[in-house]
Amino acid sequence: MPISRRTLLKGSALVTAAYGTGLALPLARRALAEAPTELIAYEGSARLSGEAATKGTMSYRLGAAGDGVPPVLRMRKGEEFSARLVNELKEPTTVHWHGLRIANAMDGVPELTQPYVYPGDRFDYRFTPPDAGTFWYHPHCNTLEQIGRGLTGVIVVENPDDPVFDAEIVLNLRDWRLGGDGQFIDQFKPRDAARGGTYGTVRTTNWLQAPIYDAPAGGLVRVRICATDVTRIYRFGLEGGTAMVVALDGNPLEAPFPLDLHDVGPGQRMDLVLRMPDDEGEIVTLGNVKGSAPWTVASFRAVGTSLKRELKDVVALQANPIAVADTKAAEIIPMEFTATAEHGAKPSICGSLGYTFWAINRVAWPGDASDPVAPLAELKLGKSYVFRMANRTPHAHPIHLHGMSFCAVASNQPRLIGHPTDTILLQPDETADLALVADNLGDWVFHCHIIEHQKTGMTSYVRVT
Ligand code: C2O
Ligand code: CU
Repeated sequence: MPISRRTLLKGSALVTAAYGTGLALPLARRALAEAPTELIAYEGSARLSGEAATKGTMSYRLGAAGDGVPPVLRMRKGEEFSARLVNELKEPTTVHWHGLRIANAMDGVPELTQPYVYPGDRFDYRFTPPDAGTFWYHPHCNTLEQIGRGLTGVIVVENPDDPVFDAEIVLNLRDWRLGGDGQFIDQFKPRDAARGGTYGTVRTTNWLQAPIYDAPAGGLVRVRICATDVTRIYRFGLEGGTAMVVALDGNPLEAPFPLDLHDVGPGQRMDLVLRMPDDEGEIVTLGNVKGSAPWTVASFRAVGTSLKRELKDVVALQANPIAVADTKAAEIIPMEFTATAEHGAKPSICGSLGYTFWAINRVAWPGDASDPVAPLAELKLGKSYVFRMANRTPHAHPIHLHGMSFCAVASNQPRLIGHPTDTILLQPDETADLALVADNLGDWVFHCHIIEHQKTGMTSYVRVT
């Protein structure tokens, strides 16, 4: 049965019903002509653990509405989006639009691309996302604390030309560091920061533990998974249904593949098309199967009479307009990721963790961006480069570049080659070549997205002139 516009309408109604959690908030883009949409960062409390409500959570809300998990921001490929960040926190903040290839002045890195937004202040963001897909937003300021307390939201950039699905469900995955009383404990342990990172104690999906979402029986559901945790690397398994992976890190796969054991690290995204079971009430369970004790991320319950869709009818999504690097002409830039001897780091306005444990090309950065040293590399606009990455540590590192996308073109380990991304999960002892065209002017941060690593040295930036 062909999927029509009408299906889209039906699907949209279902999504709203399926959420029921305030996720499907008004589309910010509609507000362009009117007063600016306010994206308010605020402090509150939330029930996260089954214990007392956790005090001191941080979230975003759009205007007056909002409670709990930050809203999914919906944008459109090629259409301008704008939002006024209003800081109701007690400390400076900014918003970084992870994975969006937008102008440097909108990138949200204090001191490097914009001033701090102090308590009570505001900052107007305005940009046009060139790519469609699943992205996310978060502060770039006292990042471990602010992200750790809740400031991570998903961005959906729609492409009007995309195939239509029967429903869409967005999953924002993250952990919390809570004690037995449900209150925050220290966001990290230095001992763990010097290793794989400090894990949370409570695991959530859209700020809920193992939520259940309704979806049309026999339907095809687009599930947008976004790993916004500061540490955890996920590996997904499915029970009771089948799914294809159609996009990774916002970019469609040329050849979608069945969901198998693919790691998704902090900052990364995976879009699935899930075929729901035919019988009403049947449940599909998405689990994290990494480690020895698998646990449920979310479940999907079939509702209504079967739509009888077929996974084999899923067509590839339209590719994003990302320039392909000329690897023959490309200049090679070595990038070495190492542990350092432990040093104290001076306090900074953006929340130094007080240590350095890591370095890129032997330089350990103190924090988010409060005291920039020279760029790691100077790139010429329009030229092709290969970052020759060498992970000289026994830990995986999700390395993220702001403002530009790149493709892995070689690796000493099995990996998807030639797929554009903004975040590569570099495996222990991996060496990999990342190719890109330096097509966006400015200073672009380049860091590990295990935030403790980022904030204890594994950060730098590249300059495009
Ligand atoms: Cu997702 Cu520098 O950030
Ligand atoms: Cu790391």
